[in-house]
Amino acid sequence: MTVHFIGAGPGAPDLITLRGRDLIARCPVCLHAGSLVPEALLDHCPPGARIVNTAPLDLDAIIAEMVAAHAAGLDVARLHSGDLSIWSAMGEQLRRLRALGIPYDITPGVPAFAAAAATLGAELTLPGLAQSVVLTRTAGRATGMPPGENLAAFAATGATLAIHLSIHVLDRVVADLLPFYGADCPAAVVFRASWPEERIVRASLGTLAAVVDGAGERTALILVGPVLGAEDFGESRLYAADYDRRFRPVGAAPRFPEEGA
Ligand SMILES: C[S@@+](CC[C@H](N)C(=O)[O-])C[C@H]1O[C@@H](n2cnc3c(N)ncnc32)[C@H](O)[C@@H]1O
Repeated sequence: MTVHFIGAGPGAPDLITLRGRDLIARCPVCLHAGSLVPEALLDHCPPGARIVNTAPLDLDAIIAEMVAAHAAGLDVARLHSGDLSIWSAMGEQLRRLRALGIPYDITPGVPAFAAAAATLGAELTLPGLAQSVVLTRTAGRATGMPPGENLAAFAATGATLAIHLSIHVLDRVVADLLPFYGADCPAAVVFRASWPEERIVRASLGTLAAVVDGAGERTALILVGPVLGAEDFGESRLYAADYDRRFRPVGAAPRFPEEGA
């Protein structure tokens, strides 16, 4: 018996890995984390599966489902939205399972920031503009930020920012970032990336808060950085015609001569 933690992806039901889909199809128990996990994924559950929405449950009740499945020798598919490595509350479940001696494994999923970047048609790391992406959030009612992790500290790097769980405080986010990125810096909000209701708002950082109407919709990512919509950036050296590399040796005396030559 194993509890299979599965990244369910950002919303479109076909944005799940084949491994994740196949695990759902063979687990007689499926625990899913509520409304951000697309319902269509539950169609992969085998007939008669026990399907439980864990949104109204506390951690003890969720673990009790896993303990009961373990006692009955039934594999569990545990679905969380996006990928499991960020804001999934998986860590505390794994700790309980380790203490109980219940086996588990993890199948990654497509994170929301990757789906939002795809929707925007954007590479988030472009030569000369940004080579880092910061996945962050602002403090919420349930979760504070550790000391040192604040928007100003991340903004000081100039990296591309993907700000989660913060659309309700967009005004404050913009105010914190303006001194570092400037009013003309490109920015975007992607609501429900990959869902049928997907919506994009692109604007300069200085005008973003005024043009975004986030009323009622909390599933949104704020992206900020010069890479968004940029045309003026260098090409990567990796594919330059004169760049000598192991798989494409060039020049009279290549550093990596072809094998046998
Ligand atoms: C609890 S976090 C889950 C993150 C998830 N584990 C991931 O890998 O992306 C939920 C937040 O992620 C963002 N999010 C999740 N799905 C999204 C989507 N389809 N489009 C835009 N933002 C999304 C929003 O900021 C939302 O408030």
